[in-house]
Amino acid sequence: MRIYRAKDYEEMSRKAANLIAAQVIMKPDCVLGLATGTTPVGTYRQLVEGYEKGDLDFSAVKTVNLDEYKGLSPENNQSYRYFMNENLFRHVNICLENTNVPNGLAEDAEAECARYNQVIRDLGGIDLQLLGLGVNGHIGFNEPDDAFAKETHLVTLTQSTIDANSRLFDRIEDVPHYAFTMGIRSIMQARKILVVANGENKADIIKKAFFGPVTPQVPASILQMHPDVILVGDEAALGKI
Ligand code: GLP
Repeated sequence: MRIYRAKDYEEMSRKAANLIAAQVIMKPDCVLGLATGTTPVGTYRQLVEGYEKGDLDFSAVKTVNLDEYKGLSPENNQSYRYFMNENLFRHVNICLENTNVPNGLAEDAEAECARYNQVIRDLGGIDLQLLGLGVNGHIGFNEPDDAFAKETHLVTLTQSTIDANSRLFDRIEDVPHYAFTMGIRSIMQARKILVVANGENKADIIKKAFFGPVTPQVPASILQMHPDVILVGDEAALGKI
């Protein structure tokens, strides 16, 4: 694992965007695994700037997102499809048909998970997976558990995740309790993984995930077993390692 230290959020975002940009430049038809949350917002902003300057071309890029809340429509401003459209897709020349997010409105959850696994397989796997970290060590919505879930599945969100994510909703009652998420195996099969983290509230989990025992109780700890992981963090997030 390589760790890149950034002095602040801006620099973290720029470093992460540069790594993604390098991937897009090296392989214009690459498959990017994308993440939501507040951490990657600045990274996406930098990628949009790169596109506006004429340095980046997304016309052949394909994307597959990690997760989506169950029950939220693409038009709901808390859905991850909405987030991706607003933060990246509508600002660059990506074809929306080449972008994939689990369908939060799917009624048959099992069929939706099978469909999403097939999407990932049909794309030939993920070249570069961007990840944020939940404060409890979740990646995507793979919550602490007794075993690592392998493929796309429906998750019951933990109270800690509901509490953490409630800051983005008007009322805590509005936070969905279920979500679709890509599984740990699909994430681990990505050729490269880029983890972004900022802020003091991520310092403990970074220490546990990257320097503690590998355990499904800290889902991100599995990343220690991946051959090509880069962690880009700001001073505060890397403050305990
Ligand atoms: C959500 C997402 C994760 C994300 C996490 C951290 O739970 N499902 O993919 O990494 O939040 O979010 P933030 O970046 O806002 O701290």
